Amino acid sequence: MTSSRQPAPQPQEALTAAVDWAITSRRSVRAFLPTPVPRDAIEAILAVASRAPSGTNTQPWKVHVLTGEAKARLTAEILAAHVDAAVAATHQDEWIYYPREWVSPYLERRRKIGFDLYGLLGIGKADKARMHQQFGRNYAFFDAPVGLIFVIDRVLQQGSFLDYGMFLQGVMVAARARGLDTCPQAAFMQFHRIIAGQLAIPATEMVVCGMSLGYADPSRVENSLHTDREPVDAFTTFHG
Ligand SMILES: Cc1cc2nc3c(=O)[nH]c(=O)nc-3n(C[C@H](O)[C@H](O)[C@H](O)COP(=O)(O)O)c2cc1C
Repeated sequence: MTSSRQPAPQPQEALTAAVDWAITSRRSVRAFLPTPVPRDAIEAILAVASRAPSGTNTQPWKVHVLTGEAKARLTAEILAAHVDAAVAATHQDEWIYYPREWVSPYLERRRKIGFDLYGLLGIGKADKARMHQQFGRNYAFFDAPVGLIFVIDRVLQQGSFLDYGMFLQGVMVAARARGLDTCPQAAFMQFHRIIAGQLAIPATEMVVCGMSLGYADPSRVENSLHTDREPVDAFTTFHG
């Protein structure tokens, strides 16, 4: 897709409201309707997201789009591994997403999202079996009709992960602009060997994360989760 340098849609207030809405209405949706997503919508979303900047225009993103049988096959093999603790233990994340040691304030924020999500679903703190089952819903892409798997060339470095994040945000925001919802998913990293096997991903590439894409099911309680954000003055220092 070429960069659009057409004049921005008018009026300015409507443009600001539309862009801000697409960004701020994004949230992680964890239950989807079976309504299919047209292929041209998926292609348009990826084309818009590919306008993300990247250091020296490296464009580190590579995307596998799964629907129908291909998605069901991946879900089945990963879920079979997820439910068997001994097998799951043989699958390890390939790159470190979360801190090795959880300290304040990240620890409290992490606990709150877990507590709030499982609370909505009526899953008690001690109910490890139901938590595990709910976590397993990741691998069904929360029933979304489209599953995305993002991979990166292993030769690329930390900076490319920064670029990749901008691309991922672009995918999620462009999806909102089309009435679609998403859930980015680090959960898939653990099962990169299964993913690589099914999608013929070469050894020179690794799985960055997955993402569910589809129409949110508004009737599902997990989709009523609203997460907090710190106010600007809590994370910003103005100088001068
Ligand atoms: C890279 C990335 C990976 C994530 N992995 C998962 C995941 O595996 N499963 C899940 O349910 N949510 C996952 N999330 C969603 C976060 O929990 C969520 O973004 C956060 O709690 C803020 O909520 P919001 O997205 O609704 O604003 C992930 C988010 C990001 C950015």
